[in-house]
Amino acid sequence: MSLRIGIVGTGAFAQGFIPLFKAHPLVDQLTLCDTDDEKLAQNAAKHQIAQTSPSLDALCAMDIDAVCLFTQNWLHGPQAVQALDAGKHVYSAVPAGVSVDEIEKLVFATARSGKVYMIGETSYYYPGVIYCRQQHAKGAFGRIVYGEAEYYHDWDHGLYDVARWRGGENWRETAGIPPMYYPTHSTSQIISISGAFMTKVSCQGFVDEHEDRIYPDNNWQNPFSNQVALFSMSDGSSCRINEFRRVGHPGCVRMTLFGTDGSFEDNAHGAVWLTKDRNEKQALDTLLAATGQPIKSGGNMDKVTAADGTHLGTAQVHDTARLPSEFAGLPNGHAGSHQFLVDDFIKACHSGETPPNNAWDAARYVLPGLAAHESALQEGTLLPVLDLGDPPAR
Ligand SMILES: NC(=O)c1ccc[n+]([C@@H]2O[C@H](COP(=O)([O-])OP(=O)(O)OC[C@H]3O[C@@H](n4cnc5c(N)ncnc54)[C@H](O)[C@@H]3O)[C@@H](O)[C@H]2O)c1
Repeated sequence: MSLRIGIVGTGAFAQGFIPLFKAHPLVDQLTLCDTDDEKLAQNAAKHQIAQTSPSLDALCAMDIDAVCLFTQNWLHGPQAVQALDAGKHVYSAVPAGVSVDEIEKLVFATARSGKVYMIGETSYYYPGVIYCRQQHAKGAFGRIVYGEAEYYHDWDHGLYDVARWRGGENWRETAGIPPMYYPTHSTSQIISISGAFMTKVSCQGFVDEHEDRIYPDNNWQNPFSNQVALFSMSDGSSCRINEFRRVGHPGCVRMTLFGTDGSFEDNAHGAVWLTKDRNEKQALDTLLAATGQPIKSGGNMDKVTAADGTHLGTAQVHDTARLPSEFAGLPNGHAGSHQFLVDDFIKACHSGETPPNNAWDAARYVLPGLAAHESALQEGTLLPVLDLGDPPAR
């Protein structure tokens, strides 16, 4: 069975994904959807896609199998529920939602519909995270003791432009969203390695005093541009998550994880694997460099769309052999993750199996941040983190 896919939102981020959905061998029809008529027409021409839809409502009424959300980050929860209720599988750019109520509704709608829901969490396929999942599966960490994950993105690094194109005329209202409402690039790293999830949190907020007044003049009455949260984890470990939007730093998404037997450290100087052996330090920079990998022999070379047959942006730890040959030479972003996310989703829709980064995972990525912001508003009061459990067997 080939799949008919609708892409909702033809903005900046969708540009790297439209060619991947179009090229996947299990997809035979793509519909582009945007409420902005001009943008929709431009993208239909640019990506050579004949079928378009003027709204999510209209798309949900069409005879398609799946809806992929690339709309503004605060819109995803209700849009995903609408598409699931209309009987469509759903792929969503992060985050899954921006309130506990939205996340509960999303998980219930996924369970009720029996459809596939997948969050497009790019950190899941970051090379360092893949490496640590492999080390954890081998038992090399021992018991996890403590993790640190962080997403640093200063306003001066393009965020004003992003806020303007996402928020339009009244961009200030949405720009000052609490940093902990977008925690998933950080939380997912730890959770997807150890399988443990956050149970309690105490969070501190940095009250912003910048003259741009983005904080606190926003829809969320949020005064914080940076937040630091300390979590208890379900496996007895603890972890610290930093979400910084005002920081003198070039920016990063990264993680460090300590176990009783081994540790992974990543900072501006590079990534290393460490054990108790004081003389040994294994540098991982070459292994984890997302510089592109040649297509594996045995791939379907006659379908290769790239002149040089390279899976762009991937690292040695990426299992490129599982990707469709058609993806070679196509765009790939966020450390090689885009192609794997699209492939996971399409294969799950085709097989009916639960993908990684399913609705229950998505809830565990985002709910800790929502509780953390609440804690920060209460000056660090220790609060429970809601857990909606594991996905049901399919
Ligand atoms: N690493 C990552 O995972 C990563 C990186 C960048 C962006 N993102 C996510 O990608 C998403 C999109 O970001 P962007 O910068 O491309 O935004 P954008 O503003 O450029 O694009 C959003 C588009 O959605 C359209 N839209 C909104 N509501 C709609 C509706 N009901 N029906 C049809 N179209 C609708 C808008 O008209 C707009 O064209 C965000 O949620 C962001 O969080 C994720």
